[in-house]
Amino acid sequence: MPTRLKFGVVGTGVGSSFISGAASELAKEGVLELTGVVARNRAKTEEFARKYGFKTAYSNIYDMIGSEKPDIVAVSAPHYAHFQIALEAIENGVNVLVDKPMAVNLTEADELIRRAETKGVKLGVIFQSRFDDSFNFVKSLADRGVLGRLIMGEAVVEWYRTEEYYAGSSWRGRLATEGGGALINQAIHTIDLLLWIMGEPESVWAKVDTLGHNIEVEDLAVAVVRFRNGALGVIQASTATYPGLPTRLEVHGLKGTVTVEGDEIKFMKTVEEIPTLKPPVKRIEGLKSWERPEAVPIENHKRLLKDFVDAVLEDRRPLVDGYEGRRSLELIRAIYRSSATGEVVNLPLKE
Ligand SMILES: NC(=O)c1ccc[n+]([C@@H]2O[C@H](COP(=O)([O-])OP(=O)(O)OC[C@H]3O[C@@H](n4cnc5c(N)ncnc54)[C@H](OP(=O)(O)O)[C@@H]3O)[C@@H](O)[C@H]2O)c1
Repeated sequence: MPTRLKFGVVGTGVGSSFISGAASELAKEGVLELTGVVARNRAKTEEFARKYGFKTAYSNIYDMIGSEKPDIVAVSAPHYAHFQIALEAIENGVNVLVDKPMAVNLTEADELIRRAETKGVKLGVIFQSRFDDSFNFVKSLADRGVLGRLIMGEAVVEWYRTEEYYAGSSWRGRLATEGGGALINQAIHTIDLLLWIMGEPESVWAKVDTLGHNIEVEDLAVAVVRFRNGALGVIQASTATYPGLPTRLEVHGLKGTVTVEGDEIKFMKTVEEIPTLKPPVKRIEGLKSWERPEAVPIENHKRLLKDFVDAVLEDRRPLVDGYEGRRSLELIRAIYRSSATGEVVNLPLKE
């Protein structure tokens, strides 16, 4: 396999601009060669290709794969389209990096995992916050036992999206195409981090609602989670909470607490003072995604993409593979079921 892998992307929207921006930087460093970009609007796709340095604009994935024979395709299309596009790449022996959520339900997610394994290609999911310094610091505190036994974790995603954000999109705000609302689109990153740090969930009770927008999907959600390790968790998610607040992730153990606001460690105190434990000094620009969807810094995408490239070259699993990418989707699907039935839902979830 050549060391300079051929990279193609599907989508020219906000999601694609992040992973393509990261790919563009890796191309300048000699890691990737940018091949094709796929979307339906010709002029926009050509403009996108010029902006990020892709060789050719395509209107469908079949032609792009056939002509360019990419090693890696990133899929940053509307949620409902992830499955078919990713499957097409997998079946053609292409390694796939699919944006969050990896699919709109577990049946599709499991099928992608199964087909990628059968074909022997890598499947990764774009949860770039897993590569963020602050969240890695929290994860290492929890894993090293510095916080003691974990007892509570909170993921609070009180964001704001305008009515135009939904009205101006052909797929957002509709169940069939977005697969859900504030949880599956916006809060999914923080839910992923909560599960990564706190461990496997055992059960969930939840209520979701739509109070601030004229849409089919939830713009408000509250969930109570019991983790297998006995800890409790709370998830609050919204796109209706004006003006939008920084995301909060809080982890409490019997020996300490650490909180993250936005992407910065806001508070940390442990029973035993450990002088070597210093929160990371952020080198990257702070997150503002609670106010505007496009304000996500690119560094974490670059780290995630580099890990995926290395996974392909070294024939190992990427850090966020299909199984890792599936975890938040499973809990979100359980939250939807709990809200619909009024019942506590046990995990693992069967769909
Ligand atoms: N990781 C992150 O931080 C992050 C941030 C933002 C978004 N995202 C994710 O990125 C994905 C796309 O969201 P977005 O906000 O970028 O949406 P968007 O702005 O609506 O862009 C969607 C793109 O997909 C193209 N497209 C639509 N249907 C297609 C199809 N059937 N085949 C090929 N291309 C198609 C659209 O172009 P045409 O209409 O011209 O085809 C457009 O370029 C979602 O999964 C979203 O959750 C991730």
